[in-house]
Amino acid sequence: MLETKNISVCFTADQFEKYADGKSTVVVIDLLRATSVISTAFSEGVKAIIPVQTLEEALSYKGREGYIVAAERNAKPIKGFNYGNSPFHYINSDVKGKILVLTTTNGTKAIHNARKHKVITASYINIAAVAKHLIKEHKDVIILCSGWKGVFNLEDPIFAGSLANLLIDSDRYESSCDSLFTSRQLLKNSNGDLFNYLSDSSHRKRLKTLNMEDDTRFCLSPPITSDIIPILKDDKLVILKD
Ligand code: MLT
Repeated sequence: MLETKNISVCFTADQFEKYADGKSTVVVIDLLRATSVISTAFSEGVKAIIPVQTLEEALSYKGREGYIVAAERNAKPIKGFNYGNSPFHYINSDVKGKILVLTTTNGTKAIHNARKHKVITASYINIAAVAKHLIKEHKDVIILCSGWKGVFNLEDPIFAGSLANLLIDSDRYESSCDSLFTSRQLLKNSNGDLFNYLSDSSHRKRLKTLNMEDDTRFCLSPPITSDIIPILKDDKLVILKD
């Protein structure tokens, strides 16, 4: 019987230092919408993604051959950028072979905070591939929820519950983390209907006021799947070669 490995869930990017152990694989989640956008962009042929922390740094790439720049703050696109943070920007779009420079309110910050670990990103688009990779790798795992500006959000922990269930059901992981227990309970309470369960969640309401309900539907129940696992290498997300 193989020894079991540990999984924990961190609810916000700002709390990551309390979980950092220098050895676990970190799975960054920003379900609405950064890591769903990252999965979509790679599945549509983007070559690499550079997550940056500031609008100024992202803009410094604008106009460079082979680069597209995308920015979101408070769920809104930012003037002067090619794109905001909608997965629909990348579908049937001219992004194949391009390098995407991306800055978002929380998701790219979570990736930055975990950069000293092995970092991969996950969404419901690539969750099966991510679970398969983690089970094969068999290392401790920290599921890092981005949250919203340092506080808990509802959608990221629900996704963490989905991923934790896949890992624990493999009998190769265990957890005594209350955040993980809570995440699994939240997923169970949603009864598989995430869109309605999140009706009163802060970020779904934020996106609704911006007429972005289609983005929410896409990220919670994507019409596409992908085996691509984005991994952070030298501050750039590239496709993991297993
Ligand atoms: C984030 O970084 O918090 C999200 O991606 C925001 C969004 O795009 O709605």
